[in-house]
Amino acid sequence: MILPTTLGDALQIARGRIDSVDAKLLLREASGCSAATLVGFPERALPVEVAQRYVDWLSRREAGEPVAHLVGSREFYGHMFRVTADTLIPRPDTELIVELAIERLKLLTAPAVLDLGTGSGAIAISLALECQHANVTATDASAAALAVAADNAQCLSAPLRCLRGNWFEPVSGERFDLIVSNPPYIAADDIHLGQGDVRFEPLSALVAGSDGLDDIRHIAKLSPAHLQPGAWLLLEHGYDQADTVRALLSAAGFVEVQSWRDLAGIQRVSGGRAAY
Ligand SMILES: C[S@@+](CC[C@H](N)C(=O)[O-])C[C@H]1O[C@@H](n2cnc3c(N)ncnc32)[C@H](O)[C@@H]1O
Repeated sequence: MILPTTLGDALQIARGRIDSVDAKLLLREASGCSAATLVGFPERALPVEVAQRYVDWLSRREAGEPVAHLVGSREFYGHMFRVTADTLIPRPDTELIVELAIERLKLLTAPAVLDLGTGSGAIAISLALECQHANVTATDASAAALAVAADNAQCLSAPLRCLRGNWFEPVSGERFDLIVSNPPYIAADDIHLGQGDVRFEPLSALVAGSDGLDDIRHIAKLSPAHLQPGAWLLLEHGYDQADTVRALLSAAGFVEVQSWRDLAGIQRVSGGRAAY
């Protein structure tokens, strides 16, 4: 591919190959220019090494690689999080569970919070930053993901206890004032696993058994033993799983069981309170 020599050329060669929003983001990251500069100064010259980096990213994006993997980060809840091939790329939908958690944490004094399956740390770190009176613990089965979460916590100056292990194993015997989780919830044979960005994300962050509910079932069942009386469990889940997740929570003894809709109007988070 011929190297573009100006900002305008760079956007021009991306036309028809990748989404224009993605092209602008890649060019901003490669060049260090602001969005306003891309629009206002299309004649600005591109150094060869910048043009090379941009063209490399353009080809890889065209082949399907997620933008977040190319630039190595993704914004979530107003902060930049480092992401790698070992972590889920934080989704805007997941900001709902953060909002619901913050509402509840504001009512508590020095609450202990647990984020199960923290990945990049997006949920746990957002809570630690917004609720500085909370003590946040983040767990993940993946050592590589947990290392990214710990690194993000350090870069964002968020106090975070990171523990590796299978769901509740690292917090055996502990109780929390709030548990949040965005666990894997896709069925193993779901056709979406072969489409878009998810093709490049770890299957261990996405798939939970034949119906996608293995991990949610496990968390719902074990959570009561790790919650203070009346404390909330909030779970993110798939677009069509709310009814089943509410039934699982009720069967596990939770009260005030309900679901909340995301900005697209989809029931995206369900939760309940541990019995008093
Ligand atoms: C859907 S991702 C969510 C990541 C992050 N919380 C977010 O919202 O962007 C699920 C996470 O659960 C972790 N996980 C999968 N199985 C697990 C298990 N058995 N115990 C603990 N964590 C697990 C994965 O490694 C992954 O980081």
